[in-house]
Amino acid sequence: RVVYVSASGDRETVVAPNGYSLMEAAINNGIEGIDGDCGGACSCGTCHIYVDQEWADRVPPPSDIENDMLDAVERRCDNSRLACQIKIAPELDMLVVTVATS
Ligand code: FES
Repeated sequence: RVVYVSASGDRETVVAPNGYSLMEAAINNGIEGIDGDCGGACSCGTCHIYVDQEWADRVPPPSDIENDMLDAVERRCDNSRLACQIKIAPELDMLVVTVATS
């Protein structure tokens, strides 16, 4: 399960299989604000999210490629990530992320 928080504070919990990315789970469940234009190739930045601070240490760190792409998104913060680069896993059950506004 993943909890997506919209920019206005609405929370939506979705269920998705392990191994899916947070971007795929969002698209499959109609989460607004996550477009995934590049299909998860880490090259568009339209899946920008903020990982809840409580989870920051529990998600795997970004790769250099993700980090470079994050430099190009608007409003990058310390907890910015690309949803296509985080895979759903049992240890991340109920992970909370906020959808970035573009
Ligand atoms: Fe394009 Fe994530 S879907 S960077």
